[in-house]
Amino acid sequence: MKKMNIPISELLLERHGVDISKYDAGFLNKSIQKRKIETLCDSDNSYFDLVRQDKSESKHFISSLSVSYSEFFRNSLSFSVLEKIIIPSIMLDRVRIKRKEIRIWSAACAAGQETYSLAILLKEFSQAIGEKINFRIFATDQSELQIKEAKAGIYTESTLNNVTLRRHKNWFSKIGDNYKINEDLKENIDFSVFDLLSDYHTSPPSSIFGEFDLVICANLLFYYQPAFRSKIINKASHCLSSNGFILTSETEREFLLSAGFQEVYPQSAIFK
Ligand SMILES: C[S@@+](CC[C@H](N)C(=O)[O-])C[C@H]1O[C@@H](n2cnc3c(N)ncnc32)[C@H](O)[C@@H]1O
Repeated sequence: MKKMNIPISELLLERHGVDISKYDAGFLNKSIQKRKIETLCDSDNSYFDLVRQDKSESKHFISSLSVSYSEFFRNSLSFSVLEKIIIPSIMLDRVRIKRKEIRIWSAACAAGQETYSLAILLKEFSQAIGEKINFRIFATDQSELQIKEAKAGIYTESTLNNVTLRRHKNWFSKIGDNYKINEDLKENIDFSVFDLLSDYHTSPPSSIFGEFDLVICANLLFYYQPAFRSKIINKASHCLSSNGFILTSETEREFLLSAGFQEVYPQSAIFK
């Protein structure tokens, strides 16, 4: 009987060790409404009863909170500012001072779409100016499954909607109905599992000391309560180099603006 009345948040913590109180209330509510419809429950209470009684549904609900949707060159305005201004300025600076590699952190990389898009921009600029410029992208996600998929680098056609024909041809090969990223793009990328809310590490352990020229932290802040958003923004910004940039998504700009960051170009979602 006690289990029948236990609040869902307590039940999920006790049963699966997952604390859903960190998630944004609107996002939680949307996820509940979606599962309610999918399980044919006619009220929130009847859905909560189902979650209490059926462990597989509580598991399903928790998985529904891990949204991993991504695309190549998502947020077209930000990517075009990266391509035309930010990456050339970082790379030309390195050529000028003949010093150290460019370091980038793709902090919630999902299945690697964002990370490989960046690697394409860096390689293309390097080719365009005829200089080999070293770069390393540390690509992390809290989900082991996403990191596994990112390492495999195989994508459906719809993920590649924003990829130009020229890039299709240069950077992908067709495997059945899918597309595989070229192996040489992987040379400069280090994929690993990393939870941005972890209290133990300030940056991916494989990066050793952070000091990133660019951190991308996009399309995940809006899932969290303000205190957890701030924790992620602080973590991402504390390991920037002194001239480093932080990029979020066009719909998350406000979070950084209200935390006092300066947007380098209006609406670009790229900040100092
Ligand atoms: C919607 S996807 C966005 C992927 C990509 N950044 C983009 O903009 O397309 C959100 C990703 O954030 C990851 N994520 C959510 N919370 C995280 C956390 N606390 N630490 C690391 N990754 C997290 C999820 O696993 C998921 O892959």
